[in-house]
Amino acid sequence: MNNKNIIVANLKMYLSLAGEVERWLENFSKAKKDLKLKNTELVICPPAIFLDQFSKKNKSKTIFVGAQNCVWENKGAFTGEISPTMLSSSGIKYVILGHSERRKYFGENDEMISQKISAVLRAGIKPIICIGEDGDQRRKGLTMEVVLGQLSNCLIEIGPGKIENVIICYEPIWAISANKPKFPPTSADIMTARLLIKKFLVKKYGEKTAERVRIIYGGSVDSKNVQEVCIDSGMKGALIGSASTIPHELKKITKLMDN
Ligand code: PGA
Repeated sequence: MNNKNIIVANLKMYLSLAGEVERWLENFSKAKKDLKLKNTELVICPPAIFLDQFSKKNKSKTIFVGAQNCVWENKGAFTGEISPTMLSSSGIKYVILGHSERRKYFGENDEMISQKISAVLRAGIKPIICIGEDGDQRRKGLTMEVVLGQLSNCLIEIGPGKIENVIICYEPIWAISANKPKFPPTSADIMTARLLIKKFLVKKYGEKTAERVRIIYGGSVDSKNVQEVCIDSGMKGALIGSASTIPHELKKITKLMDN
C-alpha cells in the first residue's frame, strides 16, 4: 500500500519550445538538490513528446515522470494517440486522466475516461483522475451531484482490488488558474468535497480499502495557499498547473506538503 502524499505537476502545454524545456530541466535539477522527500512523491507530467527527455534525466526514487493523457486501446488505428502499453514500456508509472481541459476541448466524457482508467490499470499505470464542477454548476448548488456522478461513472468498472492504485483529484473547473478564479475554494469547501468522495469510496469499496485511496486537490495551488487548500483540508496532495512551470515554486510546494 502506498500511503504517501503526492504532488502532481501538470505542465500542460506551458513549456512548448525545446529551449524552454531544457531551461526547466536545468532549473529543476538545481532546485531538487536539497529536496529529500520522506512522505511525498512528486510526479512530473510534461507533454508526451518530452516524456523520454524527462525520464532520462530522472534517477530519483521519490520523483516520477507521468503522462497527461492516453487512449483506452493498446494498439491499432488510433492516429495521433498514445496507448497505456506505450507508456508502461517507456517506464511511465502515472497518467492524468479526464482533466477538464480534455473534456472541454477534446470531447472526453465519463465513459471514455472509465475505459481509459481500466486500460491504464491493466498496463500497471496509476491513473490520477480529475473530477469537479464548473462555475455554473457550483452557483446552482450542483457540486455534490456532479462530483458523485463523475465518480460513479468513471469508477464503474473498477473493483476493490484495483481502486487503491487510483488517485482521485478534486479539481473544481472554475478554480483552475487558466479560468481566472477570483480566489480558490476555502479549505472548508475542499474538505467537504473530500469527505463526499471518501463516503462514496467507503460505500462502494468498504472502509479499509477506501482508506488506501489517495484524494488530492487541484486548482490554483501555490506555495502561499497549499497549507490552506491542501493540508488544512486533509488532502493527500495536489495537482499543480501553472505554478509547476517554476521549478523553485514546485519544490517549495512539495516541501510544504512533505512536512
Ligand atoms: P492550475 O492548474 O494549478 O494552473 O490551476 C491545475 C490543473 O488544471 O491541473
